[in-house]
Amino acid sequence: MLIRRNVLSEIMEIKKPKSIIISGTGRYVPEKVLTNLDLMKFVDTSDEWIYERSGIRQRHIAGENETTSDMALNASREALASAGMDASEIDLVIVTTVNPDMMFPSTACILQAKLGIRNNIPCFDLEAACSGFVYGVEVATRMMQSGFYKNALVVSSEKLSSILNWEDRATCVLFGDGAGAVVLSASDQEGVGIIDTVLGADGSDTAMLRMPAGGSMMPASAETVAKKLHSVQMDGKSVFKHAVKTMQEKALEVLERTGVPAEKIALLIPHQANARIIESVAKRIKIPAEKVYVNVERYANTSSASIPIALDEAVRAGKISAGDYVLFVAFGAGMTWGATLVKWGK
Ligand code: UT7
Repeated sequence: MLIRRNVLSEIMEIKKPKSIIISGTGRYVPEKVLTNLDLMKFVDTSDEWIYERSGIRQRHIAGENETTSDMALNASREALASAGMDASEIDLVIVTTVNPDMMFPSTACILQAKLGIRNNIPCFDLEAACSGFVYGVEVATRMMQSGFYKNALVVSSEKLSSILNWEDRATCVLFGDGAGAVVLSASDQEGVGIIDTVLGADGSDTAMLRMPAGGSMMPASAETVAKKLHSVQMDGKSVFKHAVKTMQEKALEVLERTGVPAEKIALLIPHQANARIIESVAKRIKIPAEKVYVNVERYANTSSASIPIALDEAVRAGKISAGDYVLFVAFGAGMTWGATLVKWGK
């Protein structure tokens, strides 16, 4: 395969890019807002408990007929517009999600059709839970470094409200819906764009965070529905401990590997699961609060969509300029993790 591709690239004179940059960003969150006070009307909880433990005040909830691909479509259109690009220029689509429109076909294929993107390009879903965006950017970057793809759409979209057990107060108060997207482009600028990524996973304790039913292990049945097994189950305390430890280790690893000191980071964009996790990660890697992007208060945990939503907000608020170092760090079910260092291009 390698030989064939090398020969092919010589024949076709495929030019390898000098860098892969983020050329556009976009986000979409559903209109409906569910505050902690709203939740208190049907869940035995309090605004105080939720805010003190997680930093969350509200979350957005998708409409009944609004799908993961609908939200992905809206975020993608924003990202394409900000890149000044037409959908026809995209030659790779990756959607990251834990709750696709359906088991198959992939949400990426559904999105492709909704965007009217040509059909001779690869479109696929990638599932790495809350680390999905960082995984997606790495996969797209590596594919693009071959020179075979010029512009990729990486879209993270999650309708978590559809897989929550609204009777389980330990989980239902923590999550929300939304989508974030980036356009990645091959560039001739040197030393910018996606600088380095570390990824990892540990599948030894899947019970820590999972949705047990609906797959081959436990196909849907009257019993799985009655037992509410088609919804998120989480051992919050264990996930919290692993998230703090792993996120700080991986952020430091990518900084050490690239030789970029923490004081040079203009903005840390961590996965938005819990304000206390974010605070302790930032403290341990010595990045001051004013350089840490936090929006978990408004959206709760939107899984893989949280980093690209935050990135788009930061870009549109003028918090990122050309030449700035931006650091993403994520942790999620699997367990999976990843950290990416980006030097913002023009
Ligand atoms: O995206 C990656 C995945 N997710 C995360 O990273 C989330 C990680 N975990 C967390 O953020 C935190 O562990 C939580 C916010 C989930 C929980 O915080 P905690 O400080 O670990 O609380 P806890 O689990 O120890 O719960 C303490 C108490 C329990 O009562 P008792 O047994 O001490 O009387 C719970 O029953 O709080 C109770 N509780 C609630 N009370 C009011 C649990 N959920 C609620 C609730 N409202 N919604």
